[in-house]
Amino acid sequence: MSTANPDPILLDFPESFESERLIIRAPLWHDGAAVNEAIRESIDELRPWMPWAQNTPAIEETEANLRHARAQFIGRKDLRLLLVHKETGQFVGSSGLHQIDWQTHKFEIGYWVRTSCQQQGYITEAVHAITDFAIRELSANRIQIRCDAHNLRSAKVAERCGFTLEGILRNETCDVNGSLRNTMIFSKVRGVEY
Ligand SMILES: CC(C)(COP(=O)(O)OP(=O)(O)OC[C@H]1O[C@@H](n2cnc3c(N)ncnc32)[C@H](O)[C@@H]1OP(=O)(O)O)[C@@H](O)C(=O)NCCC(=O)NCCS
Repeated sequence: MSTANPDPILLDFPESFESERLIIRAPLWHDGAAVNEAIRESIDELRPWMPWAQNTPAIEETEANLRHARAQFIGRKDLRLLLVHKETGQFVGSSGLHQIDWQTHKFEIGYWVRTSCQQQGYITEAVHAITDFAIRELSANRIQIRCDAHNLRSAKVAERCGFTLEGILRNETCDVNGSLRNTMIFSKVRGVEY
């Protein structure tokens, strides 16, 4: 595996791919209204875990956030990925490859699902597809998932997708209420899990 380190802006990879039920793609201009609607629907489930979901955003804020995310995607600094249902076109949830280290080819998957689409396996399906994308298109050597040790639904996704629990980092950060929290860290690494 090469460890050469070209400017990541030179890396060519698709900004859209598919799983069984989903189109998984970079944000586009004017996605804001659909994503904002899903945030509004899901705010009570998001608030305990997502620092950005303490207050309901205006549509313009969501649109601006997605345009910044698209710019980051194009710059290869952070790869936000929206999950869109293939048949209905509905926005299902959001994921992505974050905390990118292009020298190590290391990535972190994050995710949330809109409330009306939870517990239907969409996030598990997306994490499988995004992991495959990271391995195939981005030559990932390490893919990690981190979550609050109390976030059992998130941990179940990581376990269901075959990630290995490496440990629980004690007092690693603060939760949305400012209380110290423990963080579970899961990973898949080349040569062990794939
Ligand atoms: C974490 C989160 C994304 C998990 O959502 P989820 O709906 O449990 O995850 P999935 O979409 O993978 O669905 C899995 C569930 O659907 C069920 N399911 C139904 N059909 C399925 C299918 N075709 N394939 C797989 N699972 C299926 C599974 O049995 C599982 O249910 P269970 O956990 O009760 O066994 C969601 O709780 C969330 O958005 N939370 C708020 C934000 C958050 O915490 N994000 C993570 C921060 S680290």
